[in-house]
Amino acid sequence: MAGPRHVAIIMDGNGRWAKRRHLPRVAGHRQGMEAVRRTIRAAGEIGLEAVTLYAFSSENWRRPADEISDLMGLLRLYLQREIDELDRNGVRLRLIGDYRRFAPDLVQQLEAACVRTASNSGLTVALALNYGGQDEVVRAARRLAEAAKAGTLDPAAIDIDLFEECLDTAGLPPLDLMIRTSGESRLSNFLLWQAAYAELLFVDTLWPDFDRAALEDALAVFGKRERRFGGR
Ligand code: IPE
Ligand code: IPE
Ligand code: MG
Repeated sequence: MAGPRHVAIIMDGNGRWAKRRHLPRVAGHRQGMEAVRRTIRAAGEIGLEAVTLYAFSSENWRRPADEISDLMGLLRLYLQREIDELDRNGVRLRLIGDYRRFAPDLVQQLEAACVRTASNSGLTVALALNYGGQDEVVRAARRLAEAAKAGTLDPAAIDIDLFEECLDTAGLPPLDLMIRTSGESRLSNFLLWQAAYAELLFVDTLWPDFDRAALEDALAVFGKRERRFGGR
């Protein structure tokens, strides 16, 4: 079976990784950032077309303010430290989610990174920031409703393809594989529409321990799955 084109990862377990070591949660997030770096490098070398990483959910605002601020700080640091290497390796950065709700300087930094890497032709890395699958579908519906109200769209023309064009993931390859680390078996509002026929894989590894070998193991499991898409 052909390998996956597009892999999404719910990067979970940073807090538990830190707790096991009697460290503050931020230490887990910091090591999680290292896992992001390893995973992106491996995905590019393996030749995947796209990787979508769940970095901050629309529900993660429920966390204490100091943890949110730690996560934002690490995101700034990640962009500063990694953008040169990402660009050099041909990575094209994209954003999904309502990331414009972040602090203006961070929004600017994120958008600058996307602009800088827009014409690269290697791995596409989509960062899901303030992302929720339900929110994404609602925002798409609102856009379509506004076009219908303005008279530029006939509601009868709304079909699956047009709806997909209004999602944040428009233009990305179809989602083949969704991996969640840390042993939880739920989607937590990630890529609800796109997961329609994705293969789901739940692994016990905590995100800060994820590496190239873990990614290769996941791809091997995917290779043994039989996909039917409703056929026989
Ligand atoms: C995932 O790790 C990182 C984010 C959600 C930003 P967690 O922080 O959820 O770690 P656990 O689930 O508490 O172990
Ligand atoms: C999902 O993990 C969000 C990210 C990995 C960014 P959570 O840790 O927030 O999910 P729940 O709360 O366990 O469902
Ligand atoms: Mg978690």
